[in-house]
Amino acid sequence: MAEAYPVIDHDYDVVIVGAGGAGLRAAVGMVEAGLRTAVVTKVFPTRSHTVAAQGGISAALGNMGADDWRWHMYDTVKGSDWLGDQDAIETMCREAIPAVIELEHYGVPFSRTDAGTIYQRAFGGMTTNFGEGMAQRTCAAADRTGHAILHTLYKALKQQAEFFVEYVALDLLMDRNEGACRGVLAWNLDDGTIHRFNAHATVLATGGCGRVYFTTTQAHTCTGDGNAMVLRAGLPLQDMEFIQFHPTGIYGAGMLITEGVRGEGGYLTNAEGERFMERYAPSAKDLASRDVVSRSMTVEIREGRGVGPDNDHIHLHLEHLAPEIVRERLPGIAETASIFAGVDVTKEPIPVLPTAHYNMGGIPTNHLTEVIDPTETDTDRTVRGLLAVGEAACVSVHGANRLGSNSLLDLVVFGRAAGRRAAETVQPGSVHKRAPAAETERALERLDRFRHAKGALPAADLRLEMQRTMQSDCGIFRRGDWLEQGVERMERSWAKRGDVRVTDRSMIWNSDLAEALELDNLMAQAVAILGSAANRTESRGAHAREDYPDRDDRDWLKHSTVWVDEAGKPTLGDRPVHLNTMSNDVEPIPPRERVY
Ligand code: FUM
Repeated sequence: MAEAYPVIDHDYDVVIVGAGGAGLRAAVGMVEAGLRTAVVTKVFPTRSHTVAAQGGISAALGNMGADDWRWHMYDTVKGSDWLGDQDAIETMCREAIPAVIELEHYGVPFSRTDAGTIYQRAFGGMTTNFGEGMAQRTCAAADRTGHAILHTLYKALKQQAEFFVEYVALDLLMDRNEGACRGVLAWNLDDGTIHRFNAHATVLATGGCGRVYFTTTQAHTCTGDGNAMVLRAGLPLQDMEFIQFHPTGIYGAGMLITEGVRGEGGYLTNAEGERFMERYAPSAKDLASRDVVSRSMTVEIREGRGVGPDNDHIHLHLEHLAPEIVRERLPGIAETASIFAGVDVTKEPIPVLPTAHYNMGGIPTNHLTEVIDPTETDTDRTVRGLLAVGEAACVSVHGANRLGSNSLLDLVVFGRAAGRRAAETVQPGSVHKRAPAAETERALERLDRFRHAKGALPAADLRLEMQRTMQSDCGIFRRGDWLEQGVERMERSWAKRGDVRVTDRSMIWNSDLAEALELDNLMAQAVAILGSAANRTESRGAHAREDYPDRDDRDWLKHSTVWVDEAGKPTLGDRPVHLNTMSNDVEPIPPRERVY
């Protein structure tokens, strides 16, 4: 097999897979530490999905009123429905302040207050004084914050890291006996060559797998490739049942309309013109956490109070806002609403519907970003040479529900942490240990199998089948019988993988083959999500079971772990939640009822 695919070898200190905010921030730290760093990415770095992040990045800077990182920590623990690891959450909220100031120094063009400091807006679930008032904590560059961060980091790095652009990562190169990762194998779309990146540290920064769903704010590229590589390496994923549905995707199109709209004073109404969130979340109202708002919208629609001819969506109003707020703070969504909904936001409401947006779960890591391979006796055992950051990872700082604007923060804080960890553990220029040749063989056999797949089913048809199953059987509200139906449907879809058809046999710009490989990655994650969701018999955060409506801390205050084998069968396990903090100057926040 290797003869059919000559392999070009590269030796680096570090290889990073993915060039979104997390991958680029990790790369900045690594090059600053003098590590020879390769960044392998299937899309041009500034087209990575971070570019779509609109509303901002949270940090208790206190530019718009009193704030404290401990309040931020409290909000994040509560937002997570107590499933987040409190030591990691403490790290994130404390480090948020220097991490954002550092971004400012790198040149991120944040919006400004009259005093010239970084402008901050309100976001859901972000409060002052441990839940008493609403905080303005989300640092914004108008409604294009992800775009601004991504371009700034790429510009800072361009000359220093070595970029391998439009390279599709195929598989990790593991030394399974040693419990270590030695690098990654990738396919160069442009000339069809295969590349083996040997590295002392491999960082997965490959983003989420939103494309398992039919309607999502996530880009077509969000196929969770790193997560799938981890599963194929025999390692587990964690908390995969927790999928965030963003309340305001454009009806019928799914494009994101930032929560920043509600942060600037926008609000939701039903068919009766009622601001219904006042009933569901009397204090926070439209700025309750996302799981609460998405569920409330769904209940309104189900009970016949949706807007439109089919009563099947909700209105988001910002026509009452001063035109200069829209012009200066929300120019991007005004354009998006005009293009995708035909709406002039200064005159009429935007039709919206909750849309799959974010994976709280992913590759389990500790707060140093090292990937965890739990055993019965050591639930925190790490894999040597393997790190994960950003949406691909589950640190876990978001637990069962992420607060808006904590995602860009997660990318930056833990991207920075990965840079530090690599600097501590990798000796620049040291001699590489190679993965066994069988690792390369295995990855090439998979590539070859799909390249020569002569079945009857186009990958796009199977993808649609999977997406419809996920949308209907594992959505905002869940039930045991729906989830079991989803599991059975996915079993049938899995069985059809062998019947996929790839018509183009070339290795150069073969999008047919690339999409078949991405579909394979997605399907393993759909299995992981459904298996974990069917297993968790409680409601917590974004996992709302109609048949188990209450949170059950006695039996379920624990992370889910899931392995998926080659037959598409999930094996489930669990790990303890870290209810302890990192330092003595902050107390753990004990579980309590979560109301907004
Ligand atoms: O609504 C938004 O701007 C999305 C932000 C986020 O997901 O953090």
